[in-house]
Amino acid sequence: MTSLKGKVALITGASSGIGAAVARHFASLGCIVSLVGRNEERLNAVGKDCQQWGLNSDQVLLQIAEMTNDSDLERIVDVTIKRFNRIDVLVNNAGVCVLKDFQNSTMDDYELVMNVNVRAVFYLSQLASPHLIKTKGTIVNVSSVVSKVSSGDVFFYSLSKYMLDKLTTNSAVELAPHGVRVNSVCPGIVHTPLFERNGVDWELAQAASVRHHPLGRHGEDTEVASTIAFLASDDSASITGHHLPIDGGRHCMPGKEIKGF
Ligand SMILES: NC(=O)c1ccc[n+]([C@@H]2O[C@H](COP(=O)([O-])OP(=O)(O)OC[C@H]3O[C@@H](n4cnc5c(N)ncnc54)[C@H](OP(=O)(O)O)[C@@H]3O)[C@@H](O)[C@H]2O)c1
Repeated sequence: MTSLKGKVALITGASSGIGAAVARHFASLGCIVSLVGRNEERLNAVGKDCQQWGLNSDQVLLQIAEMTNDSDLERIVDVTIKRFNRIDVLVNNAGVCVLKDFQNSTMDDYELVMNVNVRAVFYLSQLASPHLIKTKGTIVNVSSVVSKVSSGDVFFYSLSKYMLDKLTTNSAVELAPHGVRVNSVCPGIVHTPLFERNGVDWELAQAASVRHHPLGRHGEDTEVASTIAFLASDDSASITGHHLPIDGGRHCMPGKEIKGF
């Protein structure tokens, strides 16, 4: 996948899990990276990994930002442009999950999940779009298979990912005449710190993957990263507005609800 070499990718949520895997994979392809996260120590470690995968220190930009803060979003685009003078790829990966069903979800949960998973994605995409139009670039949004299947345990999270897929479709159509492609990926259960953050024992999540994913296993962050690289590259030049499941076939079983890890 040579088409990402020398391009500039802005990646949110790069300090952990899938975003960190995307950063490392893009670095291995020679793509210059502007990495965004909140946890400085972990973001620095991912930045070092990117150098081990072949980038020079001046090809890795690290920025601490809070996705719910509009001025942080404005700053990360401005600083990326000042440093690299272009943006070819935006990976909207930062996301938050609240493990609550319909009856237990609160309006505070709604604010948090929607602000991070939808509002910030919209605003960052809008801020980056003039730069992406110049480069005829791409956006990849990290959604989830729960945008497609019933998932009562993560009520607002699944709602937010459903909205994210719609945001993907609508922005893909509007930006297509400018040569900008917008797609989303919809992972199933992937082994990342997200489960620990939500107090879910990974062993239980892993067992749920075996039961609910037709391929009989969970996904790896590297598998999501390589699919994102495909959608960000010229290899997928005629694909836009697509929501691509990376879920071991979980989306083929829309009526089968995962309830309780
Ligand atoms: N793991 C799965 O099974 C799975 C499945 C489907 C979809 N996804 C999606 O994949 C994406 C990445 O998730 P992951 O599994 O890699 O989870 P993760 O390990 O918990 O990573 C989440 C990332 O998002 C960042 N983040 C969260 N809230 C933020 C905020 N308010 N401001 C700034 N950054 C924020 C975190 O930053 P800090 O760590 O620096 O705080 C971290 O870098 C998410 O959109 C998630 O919904 C995950």
